Amino acid sequence: MRATRQHPRPPLPRRNVSIIGTGAYLPERVLTNADLEKMVDTSDEWIFTRTGIKERRIAAEGELTSDLGAAAARVALQNAGVDAREIDLIIVATCTGDTVFPSTACHIQHKIGATRAAAFDIQAACSGFLYSLITAEQFVASGVYDTVLVIGAEKLSSVVNWKDRNTCVLFGDGAGAVIVRSKEGCNGILASDLGSDGAQTDILSLPAGGCRMPITAQVLAEGKNYIQMSGKEVYRFAVNAMIRSSERTMELAGLKTEDIAWVIPHQANIRIINTVAERLEVPGERVYVNVHRYGNTSAACIPIAMHEASSAGQLKPGDAILMVAFGGGLTWASAALEWC
Ligand code: UT7
Repeated sequence: MRATRQHPRPPLPRRNVSIIGTGAYLPERVLTNADLEKMVDTSDEWIFTRTGIKERRIAAEGELTSDLGAAAARVALQNAGVDAREIDLIIVATCTGDTVFPSTACHIQHKIGATRAAAFDIQAACSGFLYSLITAEQFVASGVYDTVLVIGAEKLSSVVNWKDRNTCVLFGDGAGAVIVRSKEGCNGILASDLGSDGAQTDILSLPAGGCRMPITAQVLAEGKNYIQMSGKEVYRFAVNAMIRSSERTMELAGLKTEDIAWVIPHQANIRIINTVAERLEVPGERVYVNVHRYGNTSAACIPIAMHEASSAGQLKPGDAILMVAFGGGLTWASAALEWC
């Protein structure tokens, strides 16, 4: 039978979608640049001047990505005054999940007792939190779900080659979480932009472990089970993608640079952050930075930064916030939000 083209359904009234609570969790163990000097041929001076990183957190031996995510989720729930059984959906952004399957979201659902929730992961590397937030927005805006828990959680220390100075100095472990709901009197998410360029999958990847390159003794000997990266190419891509995506989102939201109270960027490298801020003409004091303390925690960077800024009283109701990220894929994402 020949398929006929369906008429689009008339648009449903959309609800506003806000972040009503934030949480974060950072493992206790601190790994400083001085510690790394003893592990690879590097120096505090090189790491700090090239990246802005001073130290990062490393999860304990048996501490899993789902443990980090669950801890961040509990803080976010408490912060929002929401019970775990009220959660309709859990979305976890991670590229270092506990298991290939089931999803880390399912592991977290069990750990926090969110017995009513559906749960799945989103994989967009460091852009994953914003991809997940915008996915959550669709469910809440359409009225399908009322309460969504969005988590960015990573145990990057488990996929970093601690003998490779090009990558091991950059990454850290941690988790951030937000509770997403519709809230009376707040515009919440104003606009967003998601994108990807699958022609550049190889410049930032973890090649082994999927069906393309199953784990074998040879794969392990070649270290293909660790992050591989062409730093300079990723750097160039990051700057351009973050600027273009931010501009698109600001235009869609009808915001000018001077309207933005805070930019919360992906925390990969202070030089990338500063270049993006300069090109967008956002003064440094309106850009949230914690890369010196945690390094790059991939999908966890933005929700951790948001929780810190919110807990410190830096985000005020009505503030316009611009979040922007890039990551493996290659992917990019940005979103503008009115803080509630
Ligand atoms: O979430 C996405 C994750 N990835 C990123 O964000 C990466 C983006 N890229 C970057 O942040 C930067 O490209 C890096 C920080 C990775 C590197 O900075 P760079 O200024 O692009 O340095 P480079 O790669 O050009 O390396 C310069 C030199 C090289 O030595 P030679 O060839 O000039 O002799 C490297 O071998 O620095 C050397 N080097 C190091 N030296 C000391 C590379 N890593 C280190 C290190 N310590 N850890």
